[in-house]
Amino acid sequence: MAAERIDGKTIAREYRARVAEGVAKFKQEAGRPPGLFVVLVGDDPASAVYVGKKEKAAAEVGMHSGIVRLPGDASREDVLTRLEEIGSDPAIDGILVQLPLPSHLDTDEIQRAVPALKDVDGFHPQNAGRLLLGQEGGFVACTPAGVMVMLEHCGIDLRGLEAVIVGRSNIVGKPLAQLMLAKHATVTICHSRTRDLAGVCRRADVLVACTGVPGLIRGEHIKPGAVVIDVGINPISDPEQARDLLAGQPRRLERFEKRKSALVGDVHFGEALEKASFITPVPGGVGPMTVALLLGNALEAAWRAHRRPRN
Ligand code: GUN
Repeated sequence: MAAERIDGKTIAREYRARVAEGVAKFKQEAGRPPGLFVVLVGDDPASAVYVGKKEKAAAEVGMHSGIVRLPGDASREDVLTRLEEIGSDPAIDGILVQLPLPSHLDTDEIQRAVPALKDVDGFHPQNAGRLLLGQEGGFVACTPAGVMVMLEHCGIDLRGLEAVIVGRSNIVGKPLAQLMLAKHATVTICHSRTRDLAGVCRRADVLVACTGVPGLIRGEHIKPGAVVIDVGINPISDPEQARDLLAGQPRRLERFEKRKSALVGDVHFGEALEKASFITPVPGGVGPMTVALLLGNALEAAWRAHRRPRN
């Protein structure tokens, strides 16, 4: 039987509506809106699209939002100075620096320069450390947090389940492993050097792909009845690759023929659909959740700032 699709767009819309209610309540109590600012260095087209979506979503729920744009050749000092300015602005509760940064900048250093209390991305070592140690009061990275909301929405209790995560990034794989562990899953993280990837993946009750490799996960990787979460969002333009990865999705293949490009996940959707119990599509799966959770984190940052004693 074909898997049930997990509709990230709908789940994210509901989540954003709850955030919008929270924003209204915050405004009433604090007399100001929560503030979320996104920093974009350079003109990477994909990053520009993502940043635009984040800013628009923040404005839509009633937040004070903005984009700080810096040129691709901005110096380390330029970026740190701007971060210091917005970091000390009491009207800004949440700050996100869009990744990837141009290669001349030290990503770790820039991430550390975002005050941990405003780090709504959850990338500051203090927040990543809190997650690792199971401590409350930090911020959790938005994409893995969004995956957990989706699983909960579908009534999937991770207790005792085998979860296999393919991908070990700081943004998704590692924090997601911590979140799943905290929900009592038995967690395995795979990566490019894992031997017998398909064999390890077939152990999974819940299989998460976050590698950035289009269609890496095929039917042979999936245990019948597994829940499959596809975090990848990969642009493809090669017709042969499109015919392979969009097999079983005639409408999408037709659209590819017209546009000569498509977005696909890390999972071969058609093959996975036949084996999984639940599956997230790409696009319209995990992607919309990331933005929704970012808004949730920004609202939480605002409440924490409002409640914090001032001197
Ligand atoms: N680039 C890709 N994903 C993310 C994310 O979740 N946050 C930031 N800041 N940059 C990204």
